[in-house]
Amino acid sequence: MEGCDRAVRYRRASPPMTRPSAPPLTDTIREGLSLWRARREDYEGEDAPSVAEAFDARRKRKLIDHATSLCAVALAATLASWPLDWMVLGELARGAFARWRAVVTVGSIAFLLLTRASQNAAALRVAFVSLVLGSTVVAGDAMARAGDPGAPYVHLLHFGLLSTVALPLALSERALFTAAITLSAAVGYWGFHPAFSGHPSTALWWSVALGAGLVSHWFGHSLFLLARENFAHRSALARWAQELEQRVRERTDELRTLVNSVERVREEERTRIARELHDELGQEIAAIGYSLRFTRERFERDPRSIAANLDDVDAAVQRTKTLVREIVSELRPRMLDDLGLVSAVEWLARRMNDNGALRCAVRAEGPMDSLSEATRTAAFRIVQEALTNVLKHARAESVEIDLVCRADTLTLSVRDDGVGLGRARADAAALPGVGLIGMRERAQSLSGALEVLRRSPRGTEIRCTLPTAP
Ligand SMILES: Nc1ncnc2c1ncn2[C@@H]1O[C@H](COP(=O)(O)OP(=O)(O)OP(=O)(O)O)[C@@H](O)[C@H]1O
Ligand SMILES: [Mg+2]
Repeated sequence: MEGCDRAVRYRRASPPMTRPSAPPLTDTIREGLSLWRARREDYEGEDAPSVAEAFDARRKRKLIDHATSLCAVALAATLASWPLDWMVLGELARGAFARWRAVVTVGSIAFLLLTRASQNAAALRVAFVSLVLGSTVVAGDAMARAGDPGAPYVHLLHFGLLSTVALPLALSERALFTAAITLSAAVGYWGFHPAFSGHPSTALWWSVALGAGLVSHWFGHSLFLLARENFAHRSALARWAQELEQRVRERTDELRTLVNSVERVREEERTRIARELHDELGQEIAAIGYSLRFTRERFERDPRSIAANLDDVDAAVQRTKTLVREIVSELRPRMLDDLGLVSAVEWLARRMNDNGALRCAVRAEGPMDSLSEATRTAAFRIVQEALTNVLKHARAESVEIDLVCRADTLTLSVRDDGVGLGRARADAAALPGVGLIGMRERAQSLSGALEVLRRSPRGTEIRCTLPTAP
């Protein structure tokens, strides 16, 4: 019954099955128009103002390039289509067109020559705008001479508007420029020929001009926004590439230092082993040799008197065995392979405690049998280097070592209550020495990670995660 109740309650609580409602039309329109606004996300990041300024400077430079190519195209089109006038137009219209073509040809050539002679961007912009507006007035006059507003020629004036599409202009500049072109055409046509003012087709021309203006704004501003977005992306990419390069340079320096240090440490280690073999093991072996020679001499004289000498030899052999075991343990504790990571770390802790330098406790949690040899070795060496650092730098009273194995991850932590990292950043790369860098490299080479943390109120923690079987 209770189950039944629950089922009923569940059915009531579940939301009614309705189709997701479409967003209101006003939202859709607003979203569409928002594309036209200057979008902040085009320039996100701390250097957004400088990117916006850089884009503005670049588009102003590019404006001259676009103006130059527009003039070159206008010149080529004007000259190439000139012969058509003889085929298509009557004599009256042909004369009017010729005047307009002559103005475009001379004006374009003059502008192209000016771009080669002058680097003054502001002067070039003024010259270009004057050329466009001047030739539009002449074009208006030419079209009026070719026929009244009922003739199709008047609509050729709208091409002037469409040619502004590719120019990298901000929205306000574009609005001003297209309005000025339309007015120039009207001045040339109706201003110079007021008799056409009352013609019924005049209203048609203005409505087509409005449509052409909207279309040129739409395409022109969309292109402008795309160019700006593209510029912002390219700037961001260039910035990321720089940051990446910097990081690669830093990492390369770190690795170079690490390699040099590994070489140095290896050389020091060889020297130390050679010295121990020579001084201590060599001495013991020499002592055994001397005892054996002495024993043999006594044996020849009095075989029953050598018992004490044999004891000496036995003691020297025992000392030699201990010494060899110590040297081998220093190089790589056998218990790491025989008894596992926890025993090896406990051995390290015992040595610290035996030194009397500080208290060292080990806590292990989770099954450690799945640890690969590489993980065991890396974890052991990281703990060993961390403890060496504690002895060298921390002036601590106690250290805690945690080894926690869960799922596929071994987490180890070495915490001391010493003086801490001081004012230096808790960042391996920012600290002198290569111990911390080496620890981090070890962890990363097994796809693990290592952090150096400041403890509160004092002390340092080395926290490392390693995959159990990389
Ligand atoms: N447990 C710690 N407590 C306080 N300072 C520490 C501790 N561990 C490291 N440091 C600081 O971090 C620095 C860098 O340590 P790192 O092990 O990289 O180099 P090192 O011990 O100085 O030299 P080496 O290359 O011989 O290891 C040390 O010089 C020390 O100032
Ligand atoms: Mg160190």
